[in-house]
Amino acid sequence: MRKLILDCDPGHDDAFAIMLAAQNLDLLGVTTVGGNGYLPNVTRNALVVLEKIGRTDIPVYPGHAGPSTKPLIIAANVHGESGMDGPVVTPPKRQPETKHAVDFIVETVMSTDHVTLCATGPLTNIASALNKEPRIAERVDALYIMGGGAYAGNWTPAAEFNIYVDPEAAYKVFHSGMPIYMVGVNLTRQCPVTPTFIENMRKLGNIAGVFGAELCDFFANGGDAHLHDACAVAWIIQPNLIKDAFLHVDIELDGTLTRGMTVTDLRFLQTSNPEADIDLTSTKKWNDSKEGSPFRGKEPNTHVAMRLDYPGFCELLLKTLRNYN
Ligand code: BDR
Ligand code: CA
Repeated sequence: MRKLILDCDPGHDDAFAIMLAAQNLDLLGVTTVGGNGYLPNVTRNALVVLEKIGRTDIPVYPGHAGPSTKPLIIAANVHGESGMDGPVVTPPKRQPETKHAVDFIVETVMSTDHVTLCATGPLTNIASALNKEPRIAERVDALYIMGGGAYAGNWTPAAEFNIYVDPEAAYKVFHSGMPIYMVGVNLTRQCPVTPTFIENMRKLGNIAGVFGAELCDFFANGGDAHLHDACAVAWIIQPNLIKDAFLHVDIELDGTLTRGMTVTDLRFLQTSNPEADIDLTSTKKWNDSKEGSPFRGKEPNTHVAMRLDYPGFCELLLKTLRNYN
């Protein structure tokens, strides 16, 4: 099993990311960051999820409350004031760890081989860990990110929420040299929360299944919900669930309309239609392109998730929830 640290801001879809990771990966710890809700709330939510599934052995480390450059924006319009409204839950019996998330990330990555990081909230903690110990960029196996989008955003026309909340942190991360796997909204829109899927979870009848259904009753109430964060963890567990293209991605910091955009060099995909049957052999095309050509762009730095096997994803998630007794 791959060793994972999950940095998150639960968050309905983060809750599914935690449930997938706790069972299918060696989850060394959950770290939290201000994002969907304020830090005390998302930290409590992480503890609640782990208690629901009987995994109180997995430690939770609170990290940064918000970006260092500006006030935090939360997504109460999507996740409610608590960050995870919907299910009625009792307060967790456990307290979070006293060690800061950034210290946990740095110490673990520097002392343990083959750690994978997954960030499903703003990249504030990961950037801070890189500032503290730049060598983590070479030490980690990979960083999976739910954030950004190859074609467009969701919080603004150009920017996805997690990147928009802290673009400076995202810039730091995308320029760090870490092997990055980006699960943006172009991918996660292929992962809708359907009424059938909610009922399939409820029918499992166990605590995890009913909890999953209750989370989605609230989350999908507006009609158009997607299990963004769960896709990033599912990709780590079962790599064949997602097809990617290796492309150059950079973060827009200054644009008046595009701040927080993950500017993705799609020119080697030779299509701008996300629904088209995309040619995913972009790396070869980039390698074959002429040195010095103005259209060559910069060297690919990110595995950009493009295609999701949605039935396969649903199967993995239902199987995981069923296995929690
Ligand atoms: C991302 O923003 C949050 O609302 C979700 O938890 C997810 O991480 C989707 O844009
Ligand atoms: Ca999230």
